[in-house]
Amino acid sequence: MVGMKPRFLNFLILIVPFVEVINSLVERADMFRFGRVNNDTEYMGHHVYRAVPLTQGFKYFNTVYNTLYIHDQGIISFKDEPLSMTPRCEQSSDPAIYPFWAHNLATIEGQIFYRQTNNSIETAKASDEVNIAFPRLGPLRMQWVLIVTWEDTTPHGNMAECVMANNTFQAILTTDGVYSFVIVYYNQIQYTTDHFLGPDCSTDNVRGHARVGINFGILNQYLNVQGSCTRSIANIGHSTNVCWPGKYVFKVEKFVPFFEILPLSS
Ligand SMILES: *[C@@H]1O[C@H](CO)[C@@H](O)[C@H](O)[C@H]1NC(C)=O
Ligand SMILES: *[C@@H]1O[C@H](CO)[C@@H](O)[C@H](O)[C@H]1NC(C)=O
Ligand SMILES: *[C@@H]1O[C@H](CO)[C@@H](O)[C@H](O)[C@H]1NC(C)=O
Repeated sequence: MVGMKPRFLNFLILIVPFVEVINSLVERADMFRFGRVNNDTEYMGHHVYRAVPLTQGFKYFNTVYNTLYIHDQGIISFKDEPLSMTPRCEQSSDPAIYPFWAHNLATIEGQIFYRQTNNSIETAKASDEVNIAFPRLGPLRMQWVLIVTWEDTTPHGNMAECVMANNTFQAILTTDGVYSFVIVYYNQIQYTTDHFLGPDCSTDNVRGHARVGINFGILNQYLNVQGSCTRSIANIGHSTNVCWPGKYVFKVEKFVPFFEILPLSS
């Protein structure tokens, strides 16, 4: 029987990163309104990325962008080029936001939605988040938001006969014309990896754990949320930089020392 023990432990270690189930932290009812019923655009396809012409310029680390790019693998970038499906954690010169860069698939069950709006319900909600996070700047009134929602996305390679895991998270870009912010809500994170499950549902081919953070794209500066690129990124929904588990807020309009893009409460 002693001989059985190491094998059992080994099995557990392989499985844990994949089935780690995290409770819903920002409830769906507390997210920004999304979905077909709210006239979102639905992202179709895989291994493609979508150019989104912006109705209002968005300043990101000293550059005003009028177009950005949504990638199904959980990235919003500012350069018209494809990015690796597998999360990379090293420095890169691509300005990009990583709400949850994994090999997210929206083609099996889940969806990715986006819409820009200046509706007062959305701008007021964004203003509230920003004013709570950065009280010394305001009160600020946001004018515009872009809401990108990854709903029930599944990991690449997931198969019906294996554990069904899905992630739901939302990234909001917002500006008042002077300051720019990124708000991220985590509703459910059940997988963290770029998976290629074998026919036996093994996780032997895990290539990398998700990256969460922002890349300035200049001077190779970037900020990775703690736990990025390790299995503990599964706990992102229990951590926060604004005293609300599952929520993150970053100030991103100009290039400043790291601590200035983070809220006071972090
Ligand atoms: C969605 O678009 C339709 C048609 O333009 C409009 O009638 C409806 O009010 C919109 N719904 C929302 C939630 O904005
Ligand atoms: C996503 O996960 C939730 C909770 O585990 C489950 O209720 C739901 O059916 C899943 N959805 C899909 C599309 O797999
Ligand atoms: C916001 O308001 C302006 C008019 O003030 C309008 O031109 C623009 O299309 C609106 N919508 C968005 C998504 O910015």
